[in-house]
Amino acid sequence: MSKLFIVGVGPGSKEYLTQIAIETVKKVDLVIGSQRAIDLFDEISNTIVFNVKNLNIHLYDAIEHVIRGKTVALLSTGDPGFSGLLKPILQIAKEKGLDKEKIEVIPSVSSLQLAAAKTHVSWDNVNIMTFHGKKDESTILNVIDNGKVSIVLPSRDVKDFAKFLIDSKIDGNRKIAICERLSYLDEKIVFSDLKSIIDSNFSYMCVVVIFPNET
Ligand SMILES: C[S@@+](CC[C@H](N)C(=O)[O-])C[C@H]1O[C@@H](n2cnc3c(N)ncnc32)[C@H](O)[C@@H]1O
Repeated sequence: MSKLFIVGVGPGSKEYLTQIAIETVKKVDLVIGSQRAIDLFDEISNTIVFNVKNLNIHLYDAIEHVIRGKTVALLSTGDPGFSGLLKPILQIAKEKGLDKEKIEVIPSVSSLQLAAAKTHVSWDNVNIMTFHGKKDESTILNVIDNGKVSIVLPSRDVKDFAKFLIDSKIDGNRKIAICERLSYLDEKIVFSDLKSIIDSNFSYMCVVVIFPNET
């Protein structure tokens, strides 16, 4: 029976790949994912690789293949439901008239969860925000002072994000942790304050944890 599996592949290291993700990828007709996601699997065939530029085309392809009767695994880094491929694929499925029953989500460990673990934050009462692919980060200002930890996927360079916060009158001494390339061998967790991050250099692959003001 045709089906689209949206498969979470975890934060990046093979150690976080779930058994169900491995089994799902083995049994489908076609696997669609980024090179980074596809490389995680040892036993994988019939793949289509996408990149940021052609992602949308391949999301439409995934739906079309299912409509034509195939089983497809669409790989989504981290968890598909957090700033992942679930939201855009549901929109396309609706547009193309593909029933939700034909879509199964396989969850996985998100970069958000791993950042919380690495910084010893219990994430049942935090501000969770993603600015991935967005230009405007100003909505963080509505919650940043509500006394909770904020876990954020920034839209841009971490140092620009820190500068934006300071320009928005957030205290430069505010404690912050940058979690870079989580789960990879070169993973880096840097505990610092906002003003020091302005001169830092991090890659795009970061989760930012902002701690509440100390009282
Ligand atoms: C399109 S979002 C995908 C998020 C993903 N669905 C998740 O649950 O982690 C991509 C952003 O997630 C963050 N990210 C993903 N993997 C990461 C990792 N291993 N370490 C740090 N940040 C990561 C970065 O901010 C990156 O720009």
